[in-house]
Amino acid sequence: MDPILINPQTERVVTDTKSLPFGKVPTEHMFIAEYHDGAWHNSRIVPFENLTLSPFALCLHYGQTVFEGMKAFAMDNGQIAVFRLDKHYDRFNKSLHRMCMPAVPKDLFTEAIDQLIALDADWIPRDADGSLYMRPFMIATEDRIGVKVSDEFLFMIVCSPAYQYYAKPLKVKIESRFVRAAEGGTGFAKCGGNYGASFYPTQMAREAGYDQVLWTDSRHHEFIEESGTMNMMFYIDNVLITPPLSGTILDGVTRDSLLTLAKANGIAVAERAISYHEIMKAFEEGKHVEAFGAGTAAVIAPIETIAIGNKQYTCYIEPDALMYKLQKELYEIRKGLAPDPHHWNHIIPQKMAQR
Ligand SMILES: Cc1ncc(COP(=O)(O)O)c(C=O)c1O
Repeated sequence: MDPILINPQTERVVTDTKSLPFGKVPTEHMFIAEYHDGAWHNSRIVPFENLTLSPFALCLHYGQTVFEGMKAFAMDNGQIAVFRLDKHYDRFNKSLHRMCMPAVPKDLFTEAIDQLIALDADWIPRDADGSLYMRPFMIATEDRIGVKVSDEFLFMIVCSPAYQYYAKPLKVKIESRFVRAAEGGTGFAKCGGNYGASFYPTQMAREAGYDQVLWTDSRHHEFIEESGTMNMMFYIDNVLITPPLSGTILDGVTRDSLLTLAKANGIAVAERAISYHEIMKAFEEGKHVEAFGAGTAAVIAPIETIAIGNKQYTCYIEPDALMYKLQKELYEIRKGLAPDPHHWNHIIPQKMAQR
């Protein structure tokens, strides 16, 4: 791998980012590498700036785009850790493969993150609820308006300080008309088209007073899939239930981490199909139903209300709920306040971490 060239010149300083919406403020720098003639070239870190693309660039027309979302944390001991870099890297390449895009070598991915995070370390919020959101992504850049697989790509990483994603527990509705993903499609890939296609049903739900939809399966419109940018978890009858990785949902890093923590706590875990009828029955039998979304941006998003058809059900969100316990454990590992037995924290090398 050629060395990454670093041009740190910039005039931007860290401002108060806490009051701004998620994903609005870029840090000072970005990573960029170009793919052509079958190889990656010219990898570099430069001041954050706009791109120049041909209006013929294939990504603008046919959606050949893939992204990741991951976070870096300022740890209690002054080190900086990227959470589960390896798992994000693997998922990035799985998505790229599905979208006929070239793999990114592991050393390029890791080195780019190490260098970029070290350079923009001052932008990582030190507050308890703060972190640095990182967005590795790839776009097809060949300038040709005919439908084809691109031969040229950009791989980039941009970052933005992040705080709490949702200010309060969510109201969601079971979506029984629109579908996010079907078997054999791209549901497991983090490709741009999945998100664009989800906007319209989500917008309709917002207009009806909900924060998000709970997607259901494409065949029966009955089995829960996921929600927005989160995997779904339910805690009913002392079992933590989450839909299986069937190929239509994202293999969430938060999902996997919470399942691991729950198992280590001796909690029964079931990765299985869960229908909205089962959830409705539990509510109607007067059981406590915990429901929450799990994802990098939101971490854990408690759900307060689930609308099923024209009925609204209230979930259990009291302070002793399991989700808060798991959230706390995850937080403590990420911040270095508790041991990291699963080696989830990728520590940014010290000599880079100091400017
Ligand atoms: C569609 C979708 N499902 C689930 C998730 C949760 O995945 P993770 O925990 O890796 O962020 C995300 C966010 O990346 C997402 O976009």
